[in-house]
Amino acid sequence: MKVLIVGSGGREHAIAASVAKSPKVDKIYCAPGNAGIGQIAECVPIGAMEFDKIVSFAKEHAVDLTIVGMDDPLVGGLVDEMEAAGLRVFGPRKNAAILEGSKAFSKDLMKKYNIPTAAYENFDDPQAALAYLETAKMPVVLKADGLALGKGVLICQNLEEAKEGVRTIMEDKKFGAAGNRMVIEEFMTGREVSVLSFVDGRTIKIMSSAQDHKRAQDGDRGLNTGGMGTFSPSPFYTEEVDAFCKEHIYQATVDAMAAEGRPFHGVIFFGLMLTQDGPRVLEYNARFGDPEAQVVLPRMKNDIIEVAEACIDGTLDQIDLQFEDNAAVCVVLASEGYPVSYEKGFLINGLERFVGSDEYYCFHAGTKQTEQGIVTNGGRVLGVTAKGKDLKEARANAYEATKWISFDNKYMRNDIGKAIDEA
Ligand code: AMP
Ligand code: GLY
Repeated sequence: MKVLIVGSGGREHAIAASVAKSPKVDKIYCAPGNAGIGQIAECVPIGAMEFDKIVSFAKEHAVDLTIVGMDDPLVGGLVDEMEAAGLRVFGPRKNAAILEGSKAFSKDLMKKYNIPTAAYENFDDPQAALAYLETAKMPVVLKADGLALGKGVLICQNLEEAKEGVRTIMEDKKFGAAGNRMVIEEFMTGREVSVLSFVDGRTIKIMSSAQDHKRAQDGDRGLNTGGMGTFSPSPFYTEEVDAFCKEHIYQATVDAMAAEGRPFHGVIFFGLMLTQDGPRVLEYNARFGDPEAQVVLPRMKNDIIEVAEACIDGTLDQIDLQFEDNAAVCVVLASEGYPVSYEKGFLINGLERFVGSDEYYCFHAGTKQTEQGIVTNGGRVLGVTAKGKDLKEARANAYEATKWISFDNKYMRNDIGKAIDEA
């Protein structure tokens, strides 16, 4: 089989590594990919939003299956265009990817189908939003409706901050057109858990849980980032939580999408908050998490191609989804200064130690192949993942492996998985 992966981050590298394990696959392409993906796949210089070029490439090279890793092309309708051209593709169509593409849509869906989430109101007029804030309880959470690279959420402590936030999102358009509408919602407290799942339109199968670390600095301080590290499974995702979510959230979401005429095929990522009143949905994503994929996929026992095909064909009920009975921790190696400003182009040393291992992985995010070797090319550079028999061992292994890698301006958090000690 020939497989094409669309995307260029650590998530797509983790997907590619999983695909490379499948005995069904003899060729992997990635558009556009990165230096690490280039070691196991052929990277082609086509951007993830260049739909016409992706369709032509897949036809010309007789690609049997395309896996779309990123949110932008999913929300933009890449799956629809590929299907219209007779190609097989794993990921939700545009009318289902709206689950991530519009927060107002997903909040209305949850309300209509009684799926537990924070109380909220949607607004498309800044004046109405400002008036609403006068009586809202503080702190309050403001969310730009559309995709904003994970940055369109503002947590405001008081009325002044919240009013400023509405102006930032809806008038100054800091997040672009994503801010034409917004959601204002109740602030919740609790632990966050990420749960990824495979969905075939009707059936949903849950992957092992994970937890992300979104802030730039130790102790969850500093700015929000794309994610500084993850661990899997989450010790806070107990059987009780699992039972609640199975009863009230997972199947309910899949059924709601089907009932709305928007059957979802692909990965649904449930961002959950474990509140005192039980689990609540913080957000949905229509794809694997990044860096969640880096700790979840290496632990998956199934052939990812079989699972992806079952999601497309509606036969997921026949798949017995299984994960290794161990743990994994991923520590992101970033460029000093991320997420604000940072230098690029520094040579990376030590990557060879990870090659061929099933216990240690070094997933590339912002890297580039040059004549001198592989150099840094982004804010998040690498995701160093290690397995262990339990979370503590996996964490120790992951931090040990971060020492194998060196590059100028290397920055990481030193407390990824610290919460494990409180479990
Ligand atoms: P989202 O993109 O919707 O997941 O929001 C990004 C982050 O903002 C989440 O991971 C939470 O840490 C925080 N957040 C979002 N919504 C709420 C809420 N209603 N209450 C508290 N924190 C929230
Ligand atoms: N790690 C959060 C996300 O992928 O959106």
